[in-house]
Parts: sequence; structure tokens; C-alpha cells
Amino acid sequence: MIFIIGVSGCGKSTIGKLLSKELNIPFFDADDFHPESNIKKMSNGKALNDDDRQGWLESLNELAKSELAKNSCVIACSALKQNYRDILRKDLESETKWVHLSGSFDQIYKRMKSRVDHYMPSELLKSQFDILEHPKEALQVDITKSIVDIVDTIKNELMNKSQFGLFGLGVMGKSLCRNLANKGFKISMFNRHVDNLEVEIAKNFKTEFSELSNASAFDDISAFVNSLQQPRCIMLMVNAGKTIDHVIEDLFPHLSENDILIDGGNSNYNKTKERFDYLKTKSIHFIGAGVSGGEEGALKGPSIMPSGDFEAYKQVQPFLETIAAKDKNSLPCCTYIGSEGSGHFVKMVHNGIEYVEMQLLAEITSILEALGQNNDEISNTLESWKTTTDSYLLDITATIFRKKEGADWLVNKILDKAGNKGTGNWTTIASAELDVPSTLIASALFSRYISFYKDERIQLNNNFEKANNSALNISVKEVLEAYQFARIINHYQGFKLISEASNKHSWNLNLSEISRIWTNGCIIKSTLMKELVEVLKNTTNILTNQELINTLNIYKPSIKKLVSACVLNDLSVPSLSESIQFFNGITNPNSNANVIQAQRDYFGAHTYQRIDDASGKSYHTNWN
Ligand code: 6PG
Repeated sequence: MIFIIGVSGCGKSTIGKLLSKELNIPFFDADDFHPESNIKKMSNGKALNDDDRQGWLESLNELAKSELAKNSCVIACSALKQNYRDILRKDLESETKWVHLSGSFDQIYKRMKSRVDHYMPSELLKSQFDILEHPKEALQVDITKSIVDIVDTIKNELMNKSQFGLFGLGVMGKSLCRNLANKGFKISMFNRHVDNLEVEIAKNFKTEFSELSNASAFDDISAFVNSLQQPRCIMLMVNAGKTIDHVIEDLFPHLSENDILIDGGNSNYNKTKERFDYLKTKSIHFIGAGVSGGEEGALKGPSIMPSGDFEAYKQVQPFLETIAAKDKNSLPCCTYIGSEGSGHFVKMVHNGIEYVEMQLLAEITSILEALGQNNDEISNTLESWKTTTDSYLLDITATIFRKKEGADWLVNKILDKAGNKGTGNWTTIASAELDVPSTLIASALFSRYISFYKDERIQLNNNFEKANNSALNISVKEVLEAYQFARIINHYQGFKLISEASNKHSWNLNLSEISRIWTNGCIIKSTLMKELVEVLKNTTNILTNQELINTLNIYKPSIKKLVSACVLNDLSVPSLSESIQFFNGITNPNSNANVIQAQRDYFGAHTYQRIDDASGKSYHTNWN
């Protein structure tokens, strides 16, 4: 759907007609669709207002839809305000291309003066320039060029150039390319050239998959950037960290004003804000987009968490929302999260929740093992839990426990040192910075760190006696209930962290919407997450929801029993333990922090407040 836009007299109809002829698709002049009343008003020298235009724009949107159902068409329409363009492209977002014929007031005024038989008097031109909102998403074409040149430029841009660029063909980048191509987008793909290491990556990748036949492959940055329609949308799928900054610097000389870079990696949200601010000074939009779902998600539909300027998001929305997973109502698991680095913050907390969910399953499976289950039985137990508490991570863990290599289970042969790429670490740091007690995330992170001290663990194991696990007196049902209890606390802490960050940074995040885009495509999708979509519509604190309160009350005896049994049997279950410890803390109206305050006052004269003085006055005591 091609909209040729610009103020009256810029040449929309002439260019539109010629373009439609060359492309062999119908042409429509929006002026022909004005109701009588509008024509009359303009002929009387009066400018149209938004109300006058509403019905007219809606009828053009209907026209565009019906033409698109047949094939395509060119519509010439002033579409001076963003709001007008939004009406024109309603439900056609991913299939609309804008061409703005831009020229100066003097130039166009001169043209209009020489025009005959047109109801728009040249005096109205000023009112048009007054309301013109620069269409950043449009290809800008200078009307001083010849008509043939203009049409050639538009044709070249639309016919030969790609709509979307993907920079970095690692596992995720490749899958996203295939996803975009499968959805019908014309894409350009780039991977750097490194002698003997990364050679013709993009070209070879293109030949591997039939859906990429229409895609363009590059290892030259300039050619890659020039292959893209303007304003360009380029998604960076490179390693988080310094690489992103290097890539930005490499790309920068080839970019134009209003181009959009999307960082789809697991970048630190503070860095995303810095990059956003830096690129803003250069008139380049920067969108930090968390992408979850791993290789399979990226290919079939990930969950996407984009942030930055909303205006820039609108331009990449058609691509991101089309390739994203869909929720139960077929809505995309992608939504505009908020400003600055809020998208990467939310993705970071997603990973924090993910760390805990993984750790809980690791703890649960070691308990089931201690109860005497072999790996097949553990897998069966987890499978059987799907009806009550399904999740992607539960599902893959059940599969992992079934997987054999030769006579033994593969998981038993894996070295027990857990890696990490840093997001759990950042979540823990962010919690501390925001004064939020995300204790489960810290416990899951530190469990990974403990696992890393393999040699020390072996050495210290010899120094101490171990309890006999045979006394582990707990049922599988109790294990399940304890697991469910801990999961609710994990989600409470995750959303609490997002909520506090949102307040602190004035991001105005919508927690329910965030949980909605986590119901599919991502690593932490689960039935619990689906329930939270509704819960979070009414509260930012899920522990105030009556159903969850009832559930926790039912499961509490099981978590208490299970954690006690594990402690008595020397079984390390830090995240399960922390869930009940945290619960006891956050539900305790009279904590022992009075003792801490007394100690602080004793050695440092830090003062304290008294419960018998509501004024909040500070007291100091000479304790000796
Ligand atoms: C996802 C994952 C993904 C990846 C992280 C985890 O949502 O798809 O979170 O981003 O698995 O890199 O990192 P660790 O290596 O820190 O576990």
C-alpha cells in the first residue's frame, strides 16, 4: 500500500499516477473522495478541521483495505498529521509504505499559483504547512528533482530495497531472519567477514533456506545499509557489551537521520539508556528490545520487550509484532514497554525470574532423587504436574530427565558447574540499588556461583559428616505444593522489582501487559503467568490477591515441612528455603529490626525511632 503524501501542490497526483502506471497497480487521488461539504468549505477558502477529515480518512482506509485484498494501489493524500496517517493505515500497519514529497513553502506556493481548475486556493497552503507533522516514517523525496527521477527513486526504494535489516547472524539472528522472511518481509542480512573464521556467513545462510530466497545477504556494511528502505530499521543481534558500541560506530557513518537501530540482545538497561541518549544527539532512534525464547522462540515467535521513543516504536511495531509469539487471544507477545532502557530492564528481570524457576526445578529434582526416584520416574513426576502447574521450564526439565546417552541418563554426565551470562547478576545488583529484597533471585544466582567452586566443594565435603537421606519423610504431593509456593513468591518478587523500578524511573510500566507478553514465546511462560495477567490488572502486589492468598495458605505447611526435612538431611535447597524465609519476613508485622537499630545507635549514634512516638522523631541513647 503506497501512500504519496505532502501538502497540496507538492505533485502527489502527478507522481502517484505515474508511479501506479509503472508498477501496474491502480491509482486513487484522495481529493476525489472528499464529501461535498468538505469541497464546499475549501472552495470558500476555509481550511478543513480534524472532524471534517475524520470520515474522509476512514473511507480512504476502507479503500486501501479493499484494494490490498485484491493486490495493491497508490493513494495520493495530504495526510499532514500523524493522527491522519494512523487512521489511513489502521489494520494495515505492516503493509504500508509512505512517500513524502517535500519542498519549501515558496516553491510550492509558486506552483499552486500557476495551477488552474483546482478548488484549493493557494492561500490555504499556509494552513497546510502549519499543521504538517513531519512524517518520520516516510521516504523523503525532494520535489526539486524531475518527475522521472522522483518516480525512479520511489520505485528503486520500494521494489529493490529491503524493509528490515538484521545485523549479526548468530543463532538468534539467523532464526529471527527466517521468522521475518516467513512472514513475508523483504529483509537484508549482515554478518561481518573475519578471515578464516567468518566467511560468507550471510550468503551461505541465504542458500540454506528457501524462505530466504528473496532476502539480500551482505558482509559489507555500506552495501547492507544502502540496501534498506528509508528510514531504515536495523536490528542488532550481536553480543551484548562493548560489541554493541563498536557496531553502532561502524554503522553510524552509513546511516541517515531518523533511521532506527534495535538492540535485540541481553544488554544492560543502563547502557541502553546511554546509547539511546547518545544516538538521540545524532538523530538516530534507538530501541532496546529484550527478546526471549531462545533459538526456537526466535524462529517460531519470541516474546519481545521493546523500549525507547514511542514514535520510533510505531515504525518497528509491524515487524516486531508480526514475528512475535501470540497469546491466547492471538495478540502479539510484544508490546511497547516504556521509555529509555525499560525494555532491557524488564528482560533482565525476566531472566532473574528464569534463574529462580530453573534453580527451583534443580532443587526439586534432587529432592525427588533423594526420595528414591530414578530419572525416568522424576521425568514422569514432572510430567504429571503439568495439569496443575505447567510451564516451559517444567516441560523441558521433564524431557531432560528422560534423555539417555548409552545406558545412562545424559544429565548425570553433565559437570555440575552452572554458567551464566550476567543477567542474573545485573538483576541482583539492580535489586540492591533499588532497595528491593529480591532474595530468591540472589539465592538462585549465588547457587550458580557456589556450583562453580567444584574443587572446594569436593575438598570441604571430606571435612564434614553428612546426614543420612533415608529419613527424608515427605510426599511427592508435598514437594509439588512447596514448589508451587516458591514459584508464587518468585513471581511476587520479580513483579515487585519491576514495579519499584517503574516508580523510581517514572517508566509507568504496565505489569499486566508485561505478564501477558510472557504468556507465550518466552522461557518463563507458564499457567501461573497466565493467571497473573488478570491479577496484575488490579494490583501491583500479587500477595494481596485473595486467590493467591488462599493458595499460599494451603501450600505453606508443605514448604515448611519440605525445607525443614531438607535441612535435617543436609540437602541444599537455597531457593525453596528462601521462599519461606522471605514469606515469613514480608508477612511479619513485628520484625527484629529494632535490635539492628539499637545496635546501630549503640556503636554509631545512628539514632532510632520509637513505637510510642508517632511523630517519627529520632532518638539517641547512651547505652552504657
Ligand atoms: C531467554 C533467555 C536467554 C538466555 C540467557 C540466559 O529469555 O531466551 O533468558 O536470553 O538463555 O542468555 O543466560 P544465562 O547464560 O545467564 O543463563
